[in-house]
Amino acid sequence: MRGGIMHVLVTGGAGYIGSHTVVALQEAGHDVLVYDNFCNSSRIVLDRIEQITGRIVDFIEGDIRDRQKMDALFAEHDIDAVIHFAGLKAVAESVEKPYEYYDNNVGGTLSLLDAMRTAGCTNIIFSSSATVYGNPAKLPITEDFPKGAPANPYGRTKSMIEDILIDIQAADPAYNVVLLRYFNPIGAHESGLIGEAPQGRPNNLMPYITQVAVGALPELGVFGDDYDTPDGTGVRDYIHVVDLARGHVAALQAVEDGCGLGIYNLGTGNGTSVLELIDAFEAATGQKVPYTIQPRRPGDVDALYADCSKAQAELGWTAVCDIERMCADAWRWQQANPHGYEA
Ligand code: NAD
Ligand code: UFG
Repeated sequence: MRGGIMHVLVTGGAGYIGSHTVVALQEAGHDVLVYDNFCNSSRIVLDRIEQITGRIVDFIEGDIRDRQKMDALFAEHDIDAVIHFAGLKAVAESVEKPYEYYDNNVGGTLSLLDAMRTAGCTNIIFSSSATVYGNPAKLPITEDFPKGAPANPYGRTKSMIEDILIDIQAADPAYNVVLLRYFNPIGAHESGLIGEAPQGRPNNLMPYITQVAVGALPELGVFGDDYDTPDGTGVRDYIHVVDLARGHVAALQAVEDGCGLGIYNLGTGNGTSVLELIDAFEAATGQKVPYTIQPRRPGDVDALYADCSKAQAELGWTAVCDIERMCADAWRWQQANPHGYEA
C-alpha cells in the first residue's frame, strides 16, 4: 500500500457488479488485479473497462478453487485487499444444482481464504445479499436484524460464507472483514459500455424488462399481484450498480482504517414495486413493456428494502441515483448491446 493507494485483487471482476467496481476502483486511483474464470462473463468487458478508465486492466484467468493458481497469484503479487465477487448467483439453478453452488461459492471461498492466510493477506470485502434476512419481520431492514432462513441453496451459501468470515475475524483481530449486503442492483455505467449481460433468459426483473423493450422477448411475466404490498406486486430496493460500486471503494477505505468486522446494507432505502418499475422504465425511456400477471415465483417475499443509515454513518456512503436514472442507464446499455458482449 502506498499513500492510500491499494493493490486490490478482485475475484469475479469481469462480472456485472465486479466490472463496475473495477471502474470505480481505478477511478479512485487503486491498482486492480482481476481474477475470473469467465464462467458467467466475457473477456470483452476488460477492453470496455479500459475504454472507460483509460487504464489497463491486469487480469489472470482462473478459478478460485484452483489452489495452486491462487498460491502463485499471491506469491507473485503484493495484494493489500481482496474484493470477493466470484460465485454462482442464479437462485433457481441453485435448487437444481446444489452441489455446484456449495462447491463454487463455499468451497471457492475457503480456497481463497486459505491462499490469503498463506500469503498473510487479512483484508476482505465480500458480496453478500439481502437474501440472508429471509422474510424479515419488519421494514426497513437494519443490519442488526437476525438473519432469516434463506429460501434456497444460493442464499444459504451467502449466509454460510458470512458466518465463516465472521468466525475468522473473531479468531484473529488482524483481519478486516466487510460484508456488504446488496439489495437489488440494476442499471449500467452511463457510457453504455458495460452492463448486465445474462446468459440465456434473464432471471431478474430489470434485464427481463430491457430484453422485452429491445424486442428479444415478447412480454414480461409479473410474478404475482396478490402480495401484501400497495399494488400487490413484489417490492424491492433497487440500487444503481454504479452507486453499489462506489460502496466498495468506501468499504476499502474502512478496511485500510482497520475496521475489524463491518456489516452493511447497500441499497437506497426506497421500495419499488414491479408495476412501479415498469412505469418508471416506460417514463424514462419511452418504450412500452407489455406484461401479463402470472403466478407467484416460489421463494419470493412480499417486500425487502434497506435502512442504509449505518453505511452512511460509518462508510460515508450513500446511494445518489434515482430509479429513472437506473432505467435510463439500463436501457442505454441494452440498446447499444442488444445481445450482450458477444454480439
Ligand atoms: P456475475 O455472475 O456477473 O459475476 C460473477 C463473476 O464471478 C463472473 O464473472 C464469473 O465468471 C465469476 N466466477 C464465478 N465463479 C467463479 C470461480 N469459481 N472462479 C473464478 N471466477 C468465478 O454476478 P454479479 O451479479 O456481478 O454478482 C457478483 C457477486 O455479488 C456474486 O457473489 C453474487 O452472488 C453477489 N450478489 C449479486 C446480486 C445481484 O442481484 N446481481 C445480489 C446480491 C449479491
Ligand atoms: N419479477 C417478476 N418477473 C420477472 C422477474 C422478477 O415479476 O421476470 C419480480 C419478482 O417476483 C420480485 C421482483 O421482480 O418481486 C424482483 O425480482 P428479481 O429476480 O429481480 O430479484 P430478487 O429480489 O428476487 O433477487 C435478487 C437477486 C438475488 C438476491 C436477492 C436479494 O437476484 O441474488 O435479490 O434480495 F439474493
